[in-house]
Amino acid sequence: MIEVRGVTIGWGGVPLLVDLDFTVADGERFAILGGSGCGKSTLLRHLIGLEQPMAGTITIDGAPIVMGDDQPPRAGVLFQSAALFGSLTLIENVALPLRRWSELSREAIEATALGRLRLVGLGGYENFLPSEVSGGMRKRAGIARALALEPKLLFLDEPSAGLDPITASGLDELLLTLNTDLGVTIVFVTHELQSIFDVAQRCIVLDRDARGIVGEGDPNVLRETATHPIVRAFFHRVSKPL
Ligand SMILES: Nc1ncnc2c1ncn2[C@@H]1O[C@H](COP(=O)(O)OP(=O)(O)OP(=O)(O)O)[C@@H](O)[C@H]1O
Ligand SMILES: [Mg+2]
Repeated sequence: MIEVRGVTIGWGGVPLLVDLDFTVADGERFAILGGSGCGKSTLLRHLIGLEQPMAGTITIDGAPIVMGDDQPPRAGVLFQSAALFGSLTLIENVALPLRRWSELSREAIEATALGRLRLVGLGGYENFLPSEVSGGMRKRAGIARALALEPKLLFLDEPSAGLDPITASGLDELLLTLNTDLGVTIVFVTHELQSIFDVAQRCIVLDRDARGIVGEGDPNVLRETATHPIVRAFFHRVSKPL
């Protein structure tokens, strides 16, 4: 579904990750891993089409991805900060993409948005403001909004960061349900080892010094078999070798 070929990304002409090659299959749960500042969020912004690579091509379903104001996004996105509009209720937040991109009537938009909130376990909270619900609930509302237009592909940047372990595992279960019940392809950035092992079928491990991918595969297999010191350190939670 996603094909990344010879892609170099960076800021201001300075490359951060060089000559990346990887693919994500239709229906897969795929994790992007790596230490702080290695470029995970930057890579996600490129996959979404918010930034253009310095070299190489990124395609989704065979076509280059473009994020413009003139066409609906083909993927749902949950950014690192859930980025809900604080002055809008949860249901108004979820309705935004529908207002912008669908031809649905006001009533149908409301019903659809409510359905999305129920799907993520927020039925009954539709009229709350983001500030009136917990961090985990804000993440769920962000996911409901990302799902508003029924995308086949969902990108999430550290969905469980800053959440307690029980809330985080509830969010992991939600991702699994969206993937298995709705067939949504899931690409997520995370630091949480538990989420990686519970949710991801495949992953890439990025490294800032190597400026690229140092490990790729099933995280449960990588944990046991990886020989690369950075990959081993990542999965065994030891500090990075000097
Ligand atoms: N908009 C931007 N303009 C210029 N440089 C940026 C921008 N966003 C990020 N960077 C730089 O790119 C590098 C990678 O940042 P990025 O946010 O992609 O890392 P990350 O792997 O997501 O880190 P974290 O785990 O802390 O979220 C950093 O050095 C950062 O300063
Ligand atoms: Mg980041």
